[in-house]
Amino acid sequence: MDDLTLGRLAVSAKSKSLPTYSKFHVGAALLTKNGKIYEGGNIETSSFSLTICAERTAVFQAILEGDREFTSIAIASDAEDFCPPCGACRQVLLDLCGKDLDVILINAKEEIIKYKITELIPHSFGEDFLK
Ligand code: THU
Repeated sequence: MDDLTLGRLAVSAKSKSLPTYSKFHVGAALLTKNGKIYEGGNIETSSFSLTICAERTAVFQAILEGDREFTSIAIASDAEDFCPPCGACRQVLLDLCGKDLDVILINAKEEIIKYKITELIPHSFGEDFLK
């Protein structure tokens, strides 16, 4: 699947989000190596710190359904500009999707920017420390 198509799926996944308090919709589309897509959206609660980001809802759903190998994740938001993943999501994406993961950001003009997850979280903590 090409990056723009995955990006557009992230845009449409925003409709699944529940940003009750911030009103800031974020959508994610996670692509497995087998070509399956998991969509995610941010979900907020009245206890703000219990909010979960769009990226993590997509990844956790994929893990629960038994998928373990991922190619890329696209992220879209209500902002005009690209919406990069927060620090917590960078750690989760690195740990659960692997160092080769492409992170595709799409802005309101449908422009695309692509990073490797390792560019977004350099000098990272990881499973190697726990062996
Ligand atoms: N948010 C995401 O869903 N992903 C990110 O990587 C950045 C932030 C959400 C969390 C919260 O619901 C809203 O954006 C405002 O912070």
